[in-house]
Amino acid sequence: MEIFKRGALRGELAIPADKSITHRAIILSGIGDGEVEVENYLAGADCLSTLSCMEKLGVVAERSSKKLLIKGVGLRGLKAPTEILDAGNSGTTLRLLMGLMAAQSFSTTFTGDESLKKRPLKRVTEPLTQMGATFSGNKLPLTITGGCLRGIRYETTLASAQVKSSILLAGLYADAPTQIIMPSCRDHTELMLKAAGAKLDGLTIYPAERLYLPKRIQIPNDISSAAYWIVLATLTEGSKIILRDIGVNATRMGLPDALEKMGASIHLSNLRQSCGEPLADIKICAAKLRAIELDAEEIPRLIDELPILAVAASFAEGTSIIRGAGELRVKESDRLAAIENEFNKLSPGTIEVDGDTLIIHGGKAKRMNFCKTYGDHRIAMSLGIMGMAGNGVELDDTDCVNISYPNFFDN
Ligand code: S3P
Repeated sequence: MEIFKRGALRGELAIPADKSITHRAIILSGIGDGEVEVENYLAGADCLSTLSCMEKLGVVAERSSKKLLIKGVGLRGLKAPTEILDAGNSGTTLRLLMGLMAAQSFSTTFTGDESLKKRPLKRVTEPLTQMGATFSGNKLPLTITGGCLRGIRYETTLASAQVKSSILLAGLYADAPTQIIMPSCRDHTELMLKAAGAKLDGLTIYPAERLYLPKRIQIPNDISSAAYWIVLATLTEGSKIILRDIGVNATRMGLPDALEKMGASIHLSNLRQSCGEPLADIKICAAKLRAIELDAEEIPRLIDELPILAVAASFAEGTSIIRGAGELRVKESDRLAAIENEFNKLSPGTIEVDGDTLIIHGGKAKRMNFCKTYGDHRIAMSLGIMGMAGNGVELDDTDCVNISYPNFFDN
């Protein structure tokens, strides 16, 4: 696909629903009591992987284009699947459901695509093994034999919402409270568990008998998908856009915060709440950016936005330095390698990677070139924006955006 430089953006653009919150709504409604209407869910490939796994475990869901009606089977109502559970490309599906399956009295086998087969799983098998589950290994395909779980105290320096959520789900079934000690990262599981009546004290989860989700959950739109247009509108002179109903949970706001420090004009209005999650409308006007320095502790709040932040920094004045970005090596692709190889094709001499530090020399000339997306949705969208703000780009594969933003290139 060829993408060309474009002029000012004006008006409103509809952003797809939040991927992380949709996963959690499907899983928690599935193990809750009663029916839940999940409105404005994300029908991207990753969330559909979660839905199809839950269906194979006995959860019934009626799908329409805007709404899911999920009939919960209760915490102890899941059935042994007759097939292997395929998590596709989705680390969230796999790691969260590994926690849930660790607590079931049957065995479950998971598989996934070639990218997911390479991703690290020890980060979840380790705590879940301490709780009492057994695993056939640390790579896909992998079989979990669940059972009676112990409550544990688990301390880690890795800030991972997937790991945290996996342990929290297992902890619902343990014989005693489970305490997690982890640096702050997205807290959607905690918020939804609380909304469902689970007892959670900080990151200590108490065993539960039942979950009662609200009858209707409205999923906010995804700040991680809005991020691409926030950056493009900032970079294109004369732009002024409004993105509505965007999830603005503080644990996800690292990109807008970083851009504001760089000089961007981003305004939130109409702040409200849905199922414990804050949402708002976001207005973005074009602005000149200057370089930024970010340290490791700031990374979890913008982990999925690092590729698009690197695009913004490549247009900024000065050299930006982002430290502690090593987790990017184990995402849907090795994103540090993808950023280094492909961004430099569009803007020679811009990106240097030194260990887990990303150094971005802003303001260098942009040119049209052919780039590879590595089959990674966030790399594809970031390269698309770099082309639109710069001098165009040709991409090898764009279907990968179906993971989180099926109509990105139509937009
Ligand atoms: C996610 C957590 C993050 C993030 C991923 C979605 C989630 O992964 O990168 O896209 O929904 O819990 P890690 O837990 O590996 O940091």
